Amino acid sequence: MKNIIVGILTVVVLGLMVFTFQRGSAFQGGEAGKIVEDIAGRTADAGNTQKVDKKSDREKEEEKLNALREKAGNIAAFKVSKAYKSKCASCHGVNGSGEQNGKKLMGPRLMGKSQSEIYKNLVDFKTGKVENSVMRGLLLGLNDNDFKKFSKEIGEFQARAKAQK
Ligand code: HEC
Repeated sequence: MKNIIVGILTVVVLGLMVFTFQRGSAFQGGEAGKIVEDIAGRTADAGNTQKVDKKSDREKEEEKLNALREKAGNIAAFKVSKAYKSKCASCHGVNGSGEQNGKKLMGPRLMGKSQSEIYKNLVDFKTGKVENSVMRGLLLGLNDNDFKKFSKEIGEFQARAKAQK
């Protein structure tokens, strides 16, 4: 009989020990719980530093990706007409940024200019109102219809670049 009571008591005490151990923070003012949670990597502090590390890692990756995208001049994602690519991109960049792989190209940045500005520029080059032998020579073989197409397309570059982001 005595043995049975001792046995039951032992089971109850062991059960309570397991219970308090699991709910450590609630039952023991946090200290034991913290240690337990520390081990489990679940304290607020440990959690935070882990999160910060992950975030900065992600940010670093994001930066790298952005740098790569910038480097590639968004060539893959930025859709331009064949005509722009073959006739204008070599000097103004595939996306009209005036840069390629971070290097300045011969032509200035076109992205951000409006359709009407571009159109006026082109007409002025062609008529000789604005003198530039490079652009003038280039535009000699193009007609008003081409100018309209190019200016319409380039006028959309900024919006296209934004839509990508
Ligand atoms: C051989 C290089 C070259 C090519 C190819 C070229 N450009 Fe240019 N472009 C220039 C240069 C250089 C200027 C700067 C002229 C100046 O400052 O007077 C310029 C200026 C311009 C400007 C005026 C920009 C501004 O802010 O003043 C427009 C618009 C333009 N180009 C459109 C085009 C279009 C459209 C094409 C394709 C049909 C094209 N360019 C092809 C070299 C080029």
